[in-house]
Amino acid sequence: MSTGWGGGYVTDVSYEAGYYQEQSPGQLRLACLLSGAAWDVPDDGAHYLELGCGVGLGAMVIAAANPGWRITGLDFNPSHIASARALARDTGLDNITFIEADLGNFAESQAGLGLPEADIVTAHGVWSWVGPEVQAGIVRLLQAKLRAGGVFHLSYNALPGWQGMLAVQRLVREAGLRLGGRSDRQVHCEARGPLAFLPGA
Ligand SMILES: C[S@@+](CC[C@H](N)C(=O)[O-])C[C@H]1O[C@@H](n2cnc3c(N)ncnc32)[C@H](O)[C@@H]1O
Repeated sequence: MSTGWGGGYVTDVSYEAGYYQEQSPGQLRLACLLSGAAWDVPDDGAHYLELGCGVGLGAMVIAAANPGWRITGLDFNPSHIASARALARDTGLDNITFIEADLGNFAESQAGLGLPEADIVTAHGVWSWVGPEVQAGIVRLLQAKLRAGGVFHLSYNALPGWQGMLAVQRLVREAGLRLGGRSDRQVHCEARGPLAFLPGA
């Protein structure tokens, strides 16, 4: 794990591409309905902002499905943003923008100040993996840029659900510190393949 510009977050390999339906407008509406909150999926012209978007696949699905919306994906890993921009260009999506920025100080930056308010903000797989300074930056960004009446989706890892993974995380980290090398190779066991010690592996 690099402890350089990533502040402890893994930056020497890219994160895998993924789409998570919890971030889709329909599921957000359902979550609001189930919790008794009044919220309608916005009309054309809405702004959807994804924080820690990785290589941007999820944001691109939202952009493709909502051509009348403006979508912004933000991530601090230049490799993620380069991949996201290339894919958006190749697919011809013209309603999506990717910003390379650190959530720890984005709200106060020139780009952050210039960002339009968002009707929907989502952050999947981010909160539990960043430190308190970045979490505080996310809160300041929401205070400044989430439109009144808008929706924020936050996923996070909590106990007891993640109890089992605590031990795995410790094992991987300890083994990786001893093996050294690139982050993805630190979890590779020569004899039996990646994460061979996991049940069912
Ligand atoms: C676990 S990944 C989740 C990616 C994607 N949201 C998903 O669920 O597949 C966390 C993402 O947050 C980004 N990230 C971590 N710290 C950040 C920071 N300080 N500012 C902006 N992005 C950050 C990482 O580069 C990474 O893409």
